[in-house]
Amino acid sequence: MNKPNSPGSFPGGSDSASTGVPITKVTMPALAEMKRQAKPISALTAYDYATSRLVDEAGIDLILVGDSLAMVVLGHENTLAVTVDEMLHHTRAVRRAVRRALVVADMPFGSYHGPVAEGVANAVRFIKEAGAEAVKIEGPRTELVRALTEAEIPVVGHLGLTPQSIHRMGGYRVQGRSASAALQLKAEAHALADAGAGLLVLEGVPCEVAAAITAELPIPTIGIGAGPDCDGQILVFHDLLGLTFAAPAKFVRRYADAGALIRSAVEHYREDVERRAFPTDDESYHLAEAAHQALDAAQKAEAREKA
Ligand code: KIV
Repeated sequence: MNKPNSPGSFPGGSDSASTGVPITKVTMPALAEMKRQAKPISALTAYDYATSRLVDEAGIDLILVGDSLAMVVLGHENTLAVTVDEMLHHTRAVRRAVRRALVVADMPFGSYHGPVAEGVANAVRFIKEAGAEAVKIEGPRTELVRALTEAEIPVVGHLGLTPQSIHRMGGYRVQGRSASAALQLKAEAHALADAGAGLLVLEGVPCEVAAAITAELPIPTIGIGAGPDCDGQILVFHDLLGLTFAAPAKFVRRYADAGALIRSAVEHYREDVERRAFPTDDESYHLAEAAHQALDAAQKAEAREKA
């Protein structure tokens, strides 16, 4: 464990708010080391200051500002509509909250699908303007991964069910189900690692395929709907907390029903307002006695003048 003020701890050596244990920053090399030591990597999406702060304080290793925010935060039907500027806005909020976890920004659809130089320029914005420590891109884009790596931008690859390919896939479908598709996925995973990707998200692939890729690859795999044998797991924050409005996918485990909690708290507040039970005297500010008397006198004088 690093001592406060030692390299790897935050300047000032502040303790984690909840545990009092010194905070050791999670880095890309630290995640690679976790794979070598067979320590599972915990990852979760987050999109704003308050929830990122809670996720970070809960000790999650990697926070992804996922383009899933298009759906769970902005209410779009799929992830395609979210823009670079919107993703930057959310990444900045997350950056302000997170002290320990690695912050990864998802590059949105269209921001890296053209010329490689354009993809690099957009990725630079996430690092420079929003404070991300890595970017995630979907698909086997080895030329771009190589260019980003040369530009000192750590890359998280994403293979399998890649939501930005919804129209090509014809919907959100599990990928790599046949032997040839599984072999293709394995080859793409190796190509991304060879090109310099530091982590690989495997989404919506049979667990046998994810296990084989994880065993062969030198870089950590982070699974979502990819079974228990990946080096780490990631979920969408809103899925984990029950803050979504459709039936969850098979791979989602709901750890709490925050939707019910929020609805009930807000209903309770509305009822209190409607029956004038909120705010109470204790929840109100008061004038000091002298100011109160002076105000009374002034109001009475005003009333006399008007009469
Ligand atoms: O956008 C996202 O939330 C993701 C994760 C589910 C991997 O890409």
